[in-house]
Amino acid sequence: MPKQQFISPVTVDENDIQGDVLIGLQKAAEVFNFFEFTDVHRFGADFATILGDITSLKMTREFETSANGPFEKANIAFSYRGLMKLGLVREGDPLDEAFVAGQPARAELLGDVKNKWLDVFANEQIDGVLLVAVAGDEPATAIVTAQQQSNAFMDALRHSVRRLHHEPGMVRGAKRDDPQRGHEHFGFADGVSQPGVKGLTKPNNPNDPNQGFPGQDLVAPGEFVFGDQYEIEVPPGAPAATATPPLPWMANGSYLVFRRLAQHVSVFNDYATANWNGFATSEDQFKAKLIGRWENGSAVVRTPDHSNAAEGVGAPNVNNDFDFGPDNTAKHATDKDQENCPFAAHIRRMYPRSDSAGDASERARILRAGIPFGSDDGPDQRGLLFVCYQTSIIEQFELIQCAASNPTARPTEVGMIVPAVPGVDDILASVGSSRQETWAQGTLPRAQEFVTATGGEYFFSPSLTTLGQIAAQ
Ligand code: HEM
Repeated sequence: MPKQQFISPVTVDENDIQGDVLIGLQKAAEVFNFFEFTDVHRFGADFATILGDITSLKMTREFETSANGPFEKANIAFSYRGLMKLGLVREGDPLDEAFVAGQPARAELLGDVKNKWLDVFANEQIDGVLLVAVAGDEPATAIVTAQQQSNAFMDALRHSVRRLHHEPGMVRGAKRDDPQRGHEHFGFADGVSQPGVKGLTKPNNPNDPNQGFPGQDLVAPGEFVFGDQYEIEVPPGAPAATATPPLPWMANGSYLVFRRLAQHVSVFNDYATANWNGFATSEDQFKAKLIGRWENGSAVVRTPDHSNAAEGVGAPNVNNDFDFGPDNTAKHATDKDQENCPFAAHIRRMYPRSDSAGDASERARILRAGIPFGSDDGPDQRGLLFVCYQTSIIEQFELIQCAASNPTARPTEVGMIVPAVPGVDDILASVGSSRQETWAQGTLPRAQEFVTATGGEYFFSPSLTTLGQIAAQ
């Protein structure tokens, strides 16, 4: 299938975009402060006192390349409800329908059971979220700093805002050489595959100028940030299009999806112990097939029989150099008959590469920026504070979430990823879903759910320019 051609060179406005949006705030710990307005008319003046602390994309990139630390970073985003109160949107404005409805109203569509949600999310009262991240320090110290910094910001906003709830997140692994460092709670390296962003990610594959590292397709920035200068992906042959913001103040902004996802680690481990035989050569291989990668991040498509650290999270030159099929011989490894990587494996459901939709699957890409919560040794109260960015919640996050958890529901017909076979995601499927995953080796026994959504909300993360206007109100 021909590749999307970009109509013009793209320059991403690094000074105006908040730091979490395109590359994620690099962090050892992060606190999400959910708030409601108590006196919205005073918010501008209060917010002006901390506006200088909001971290841009440029600052975030500079921190990344600097050896000194620790670094404290802050970003802010508002729900539709919050933007209404700020007077930035009015009823009937042409915004993403899912954003307008709010995540609580979409819970069922996403495959969630609403009474498992924390009240603070179910009650539809959140106006905004202030993200405070700390990098360049050990997680245990970074979380203390992030909490203190959060309290200081909330104090600065106290005349106009009330904190309803906060969620502390921490990178796992107390020491840098801990094998679980940077892994999510099931034990797998996270952050191995992210889309490259045209105009920001350096092309790094001598054989393909449309890729960052090999296998990392460069995606038009308009998939993640609004702006007339940012192209979006269109089906091959269709006229080029840009991510024109529905309202002018949305330029250089992005929709932020937040999900609080509890992980049932013992259920996951017990399921693997009881069922690996017949589906894999070992329990570890069975788990790797559920995810699509081994614990260290190496792809099962590339090394099906063993975990290979040389192809893991620290090896960007190879760890994404694969496709799933059907016939892309240019890529290093494919698996069209799911011999090694099941169709239902998490990474294959979330990003089918060339499975069924060819390059059209680039239209449902997201940039992930989450962090684990909860500790390893406490009760089963741990999971992932999932965050992702996109310019269409319906056509990006909700589309892949539904493919994972609620395959009969479709938020939209546009840009749909057609799963290669019916069924759900091996990791994200909820109990309510049909759970009909069939691997090449047979149909998996039914499972209790491994992941339960316990809350979430949709936000908009505005540009620094727009935040300046809010501060001047
Ligand atoms: C607790 C829940 C979750 C866990 C434990 C989890 C775990 C993982 C792991 C281990 C990877 C492979 C490493 C990587 O490529 O970064 C991954 C990749 C990915 N996940 Fe999740 N994830 C969760 C929730 C979600 C959700 C809710 C979505 C979106 C609806 C999502 C979308 C993705 C995507 C798009 C990829 C990259 C696929 C690729 O490009 O190959 N994940 N996840």
